[in-house]
Amino acid sequence: MKIRYVILLLLAIGLGSTSYWLFGLPTLADREIPQSADARARGEYLVTAGGCLSCHRGQRSEDDQSLSGGLALTTEFGTFYAPNITPDVETGIGQWTARDFLLALKHGRSPDGSFYYPAFPYRSYSGLSDRDVLAMAAYLMSLEPISNQVPEADTPFWLSRWAVAGWNRLADWSQPEAEDFDDEQIARGAYLARNLGHCGECHTPRNALGIPDLTREFAGATLGEEVIEPIDAEALAEWTFESFDLFLLLGMKPDADFVGGDMNEVIEYNTSKLTDADRDALAAFFTRHRTAD
Ligand code: HEC
Ligand code: HEC
Repeated sequence: MKIRYVILLLLAIGLGSTSYWLFGLPTLADREIPQSADARARGEYLVTAGGCLSCHRGQRSEDDQSLSGGLALTTEFGTFYAPNITPDVETGIGQWTARDFLLALKHGRSPDGSFYYPAFPYRSYSGLSDRDVLAMAAYLMSLEPISNQVPEADTPFWLSRWAVAGWNRLADWSQPEAEDFDDEQIARGAYLARNLGHCGECHTPRNALGIPDLTREFAGATLGEEVIEPIDAEALAEWTFESFDLFLLLGMKPDADFVGGDMNEVIEYNTSKLTDADRDALAAFFTRHRTAD
């Protein structure tokens, strides 16, 4: 074989494996969406604790509490629209399978293999258990289907869905190893803070590419015009377990001020509806674990 062909062959293999590495779909075990009432009830709770309503709530009226989507999320990387996640066949997720839910929530991939933009906090949700994702799927599939076609994302020309493939790999590199916890309550709190409740999506600073800097987890950030306070150990030095717990329920800080901005919605749609045990777990994670390091 002539050397030229060998080089071409090597290049082709190189390109093939790079594109597989970038664009290949993860292999997932065969799963099914559970059908039990118990799974649906768990899923409803998880959708609340996951703050899905903050972004996916319908826009048909002020107090639309459906998940029919349409809210525009304006960021420095473009405008993104939270899709309709009711089971409408035409405009929602009526045809979705267990695999589609796992791919979307845990890997940021759509049923056709394309990439979601990280305005959808799938990197936080990637740490969810399959069982929790499928319970959420069971609940979402039981909702009343609502027809609502949401606009396609509006991004600058250089930011295509395929560019997100490279972004995901860069973000993987800066991902620290998962932490092990001895204390069960704090482990639950970490799951709620880092994964389901995705507190870091707003509270962790990002680099110029929008990748969260996890070496400065919860150190505060800016989101457009909005300043997002730090909630790391240093910032929470004055907070007690009890005051953090009360904050998650009412949005009231230790100095008796009420929180504002987007945090209002986090309290209203998410943390105020947690079970006492889950609220306590979050408070333990933020005030006991993080001040102990
Ligand atoms: C911070 C806002 C935000 C939150 C919170 C959020 N999402 Fe989304 N979600 C989005 C956006 C934006 C997209 C579309 C991204 C795109 O266009 O690539 C999306 C896409 C999706 C999709 C894909 C839908 C489709 O038609 O392709 C599903 C399913 C989904 N989200 C479910 C959820 C669930 C379940 C939760 C709660 C656990 C949740 N989302 C929380 C913003 C959010
Ligand atoms: C959608 C973005 C967003 C998410 C998600 C979010 N926060 Fe916030 N948070 C904010 C903003 C914005 C503020 C500042 C609000 C203000 O100006 O009063 C804030 C303020 C706070 C404060 C008050 C800090 C202080 O010193 O005043 C705490 C505590 C807090 N958040 C905890 C959390 C926890 C815990 C979670 C996860 C369950 C979370 N946040 C998720 C946006 C967010």
